[in-house]
Amino acid sequence: MRKALVAGNWKMNGRAKQNGELISSLLSGLEQQALTESVDVMVFPPSVYVSQVKALAEGSPLGVGAQDLCEHADGAFTGELSAGMLSDCGCAAVLVGHSERRAMFGDTEARVAAKVSAALEQGLVPVLCLGETLEERDAGETLKCVEAQFESAVAGLEAGQIEQLVLAYEPVWAIGTGRTATPQQAQEVHAHLRGLLAGKSAEAAATVRILYGGSVNAKNASELFAQPDIDGGLVGGASLKANDFLAICQAAASS
Ligand code: PGA
Repeated sequence: MRKALVAGNWKMNGRAKQNGELISSLLSGLEQQALTESVDVMVFPPSVYVSQVKALAEGSPLGVGAQDLCEHADGAFTGELSAGMLSDCGCAAVLVGHSERRAMFGDTEARVAAKVSAALEQGLVPVLCLGETLEERDAGETLKCVEAQFESAVAGLEAGQIEQLVLAYEPVWAIGTGRTATPQQAQEVHAHLRGLLAGKSAEAAATVRILYGGSVNAKNASELFAQPDIDGGLVGGASLKANDFLAICQAAASS
């Protein structure tokens, strides 16, 4: 039985004051509703705020992760952040291959694979993001697309490393658009990903959590999380509002 995971991707949003208010509301809501007994909850703030959020969440079950990392170890890479640094600042996980990074910041398949390995080497859980564009969906290439992304990201990994991953299926056309995949559309892709995991290791298929992301909100979360292969959500916009994010965590807790 996989424990649900709800992850809040803050993207490039936040200031120290608002972060403090958001985390304080989240912590009290999570505690009052005893949500973390049945759902793991994490936030992914911009990296400059990781230490702030980590300090605020100290002693609570709220996990903290980063939104990206450099594929190289420490050295002459001006402006970059290594997996070792993120781990040192208290990150437990890191998003890898988010579609915004693939589309705007040159995260090729090869770089995504290198980032996954760099994260694993430092004990960070890579949350590997995958998803098709609208053109690919309309061309009937959704499964082929996510399969290619998955296979290239895990090509150099051993079964024991694949078992450490979290996957996040995020159709590009559903991110930040208010347009969500139907539960059936999402389930079809999640089941396919589960099958690909099974091809690597039965343990990975049984234990790796596959999150859905793309305009998840307080209203549509329950229906999505009710699908057998959807183990929680990667939430962007709605993770910036404590009540909405808590409602999504509640939906995951009761799924
Ligand atoms: P969204 O973003 O919930 O705002 O669509 C999800 C994501 O990009 O992770």
